[in-house]
Amino acid sequence: MAANPTIPKHIAIVMDGNGRWASKRFLPRIAGHRQGLEALRRVVAACAERGIGMLTVFAFSSENWKRPTEEVSGLMSLLAFALTKEMPSLQKEGVKLRIAGATEHLSLRVQESLAQAELATAGNQRLLLNICFNYGGRWDIVQAANRLALTGQPITEESLAAQLSLSQGMDPDLIIRTGGEMRLSNFLLWQAAYSELYFSDILWPDFDAASLDEALLAFASRERRFGMTTDQLQAAPNCVAG
Ligand code: IPE
Ligand code: IPE
Ligand code: MG
Repeated sequence: MAANPTIPKHIAIVMDGNGRWASKRFLPRIAGHRQGLEALRRVVAACAERGIGMLTVFAFSSENWKRPTEEVSGLMSLLAFALTKEMPSLQKEGVKLRIAGATEHLSLRVQESLAQAELATAGNQRLLLNICFNYGGRWDIVQAANRLALTGQPITEESLAAQLSLSQGMDPDLIIRTGGEMRLSNFLLWQAAYSELYFSDILWPDFDAASLDEALLAFASRERRFGMTTDQLQAAPNCVAG
């Protein structure tokens, strides 16, 4: 079956706006993060239903350590809790989980729950869910360069890309950022080279299947030229990358 080019194979999301969602309700910020987890569950199910094979989400950035200690430790606990609590629904949806980021700087408890979750879902094939945690695009490029230097291989785009933490997957076709900001905040700097960008004012805890469909509709209307001209694309529509 030919792939439908109007449906992205890989979506990446900057799940932003949890804090503002909570503040609007006079709740502590962590309540927004908890509600953000509900949104993630909805979006994972919606992606799986729509045949999207890969979803990469930004859950904690290299820079998020600058937040108040209480919020940072709340986010760490929420991750460990979520991985356990969500396991039955991840298994039911056929989700394979992978963590990208400097996990060696996380507590042993969190590292253990990450490793267990990856192991428990390793055989699933319906949707690959990459969770970027303690992740930064610059961190990723630097760690890839260090690993490449150790191999002694020549530096090429392919050899460097092969050392990135999400190297087993293709670049995202579509990057969605919720919460109204129009920036990448150090997310997937290398892989975003030719991604379509979609910004939504919806705060992440309010994002649902209908919001995803709006993003998919916008994506379907984009012309992805990868440096070529419209005439070239019309002459040979299958010659584009991605
Ligand atoms: C995104 O929501 C989640 C993380 C960065 C962990 P925020 O917590 O950044 O929410 P806002 O941007 O303050 O509303
Ligand atoms: C980006 O959101 C990181 C995550 C969603 C995990 P931030 O809220 O940290 O980004 P800035 O600080 O507004 O750029
Ligand atoms: Mg934010």
